[in-house]
Amino acid sequence: MSSVEHLRQRYESAGQGHLFAFYDTLPAPEQAALVAQLEALDIERVNRIFTKAVSAERDLGPAAGPELIEPLPEDAAGSIISDPARADAWRAAGLAAIARGEVGVLLMAGGQGTRLGSSAPKGCYDIGLPSHKSLFQYQAERIARLEKVAAEAAGKGEKAVIPWYVMTSGPTRSETEAFFRTHKFFGLDPKSVIFFEQGTLPCLAMDGKVLLETPSRVAVAPDGNGGLYAALRQPLSPADKARTVLADLDARGIRFVHSYCVDNCLVRVADPVFIGYCLEKQADCAAKVVPKAFPTESVGVVARRGDKFSVVEYSEISPEQAERRTPAGELAFRAGNIANHFYTTPFLHAVRGFEDELAFHIARKKIAHVDVSSGAQVKPAKPNGMKLEMFVFDVFPHTQRFAVLEVPRAEEFSPLKNAPGTGADDPQTSRRDLLAQHRRFLEAAGATVGEGVEIELSPLVTYAGEGLEAVKGKTFSRSGMVESVEELDALV
Ligand code: UTP
Repeated sequence: MSSVEHLRQRYESAGQGHLFAFYDTLPAPEQAALVAQLEALDIERVNRIFTKAVSAERDLGPAAGPELIEPLPEDAAGSIISDPARADAWRAAGLAAIARGEVGVLLMAGGQGTRLGSSAPKGCYDIGLPSHKSLFQYQAERIARLEKVAAEAAGKGEKAVIPWYVMTSGPTRSETEAFFRTHKFFGLDPKSVIFFEQGTLPCLAMDGKVLLETPSRVAVAPDGNGGLYAALRQPLSPADKARTVLADLDARGIRFVHSYCVDNCLVRVADPVFIGYCLEKQADCAAKVVPKAFPTESVGVVARRGDKFSVVEYSEISPEQAERRTPAGELAFRAGNIANHFYTTPFLHAVRGFEDELAFHIARKKIAHVDVSSGAQVKPAKPNGMKLEMFVFDVFPHTQRFAVLEVPRAEEFSPLKNAPGTGADDPQTSRRDLLAQHRRFLEAAGATVGEGVEIELSPLVTYAGEGLEAVKGKTFSRSGMVESVEELDALV
């Protein structure tokens, strides 16, 4: 039997023989491409993941035992909202670690941003700021500023380096790299910006059958932001198999890593306060959270499930639990998860040991595909299939010393999820929240900002409101954007 026949039989026995529906009619190069894709795919694993994901989903919900779910224990939870005085010491410790060159950053930018509806990677998106800077540029400039602030705090002449590991995926990699090159890495040293790529999995119909994107190509999608962990072990280039993100972290002596999502315009990249807090807690992994806005907000919260930490979906807790309050009147389950994490490098190495236990989740999406019976191209108007995704927070139950830091939402979280004009988590709300923060920075430094005046402060001017002493007593009556504190004088 030919090797193609073997392959076909393997797919038949896995219940996925339909992937050969068009094979016999394809030109030879396309036959070869399809065979190569199918050979590289572990179809039995895909079936196993599907079965496990379906049963995990069935087990979710209040029936799964909300009594096992408990709020965070006090000793694992800190807050700069209720305890802002602690932030200075944490910041100092975090800056010192940055200045020692021990802090790196992992960016999760492999998502396809389907809800936003832009074909470019989300990080390239211009949320309409006066500067028209992209999300990537904001993050890069925050890193550059922080490198300077940390070096100054340590009294070091040369600046500290915070390596930036940018996780892309098949759909986002080449455009992301090209965008960085076009913008000259936004002023960062290209040697300190490391791209890597997460894996993909086939897209499935609702019954678990793999979908074909074209007669000769399987539809695939990135394997979720939890694909991060496995991606850290992949060679950075085919030419140098030994160089992986984990190897690079070790080679640079990076001990602490901050990871975050590309779509949060307020993200405090490598936040020294968070790093310092985690160092004090001696955490191996930690999460930043924001208070849930109201009891029924459909956001996952960090909580305890039995004796483990976990992200608990809104659907998993009872209405009474959702409404429960602490003696101080706050929601008991309020630690809204924003996918903003801390890891020690040894923890990132250790994930491999328990990775097989991490479940895949099902995301129901609109998936363009070719109908195997008619050969017609289908562009569905509503979700017709599934993407299988790992979630980055699914490692929490496997941590030894987990910690949570609560931060104010207005200062740190405004995600870009939806198309312009949606009214929530869209480009307009991102723009509004970022500019409102810049106004607060100026006002906190002692300036007055006129009604309706919009001033955009480059992240190179201030990372988190510091360095604005010169504006004290000034009144700003003009809108504009500035790249230095001196330029602010033109807006008085
Ligand atoms: P979301 O789950 O919100 O997905 O990603 P998305 O791709 O941005 O948007 P939709 O759901 O298609 O509309 C949250 C974060 O996780 C990253 C995204 O880039 C974003 O920073 N992510 C998501 C990955 O890095 N890889 C993935 O496979 C999925």
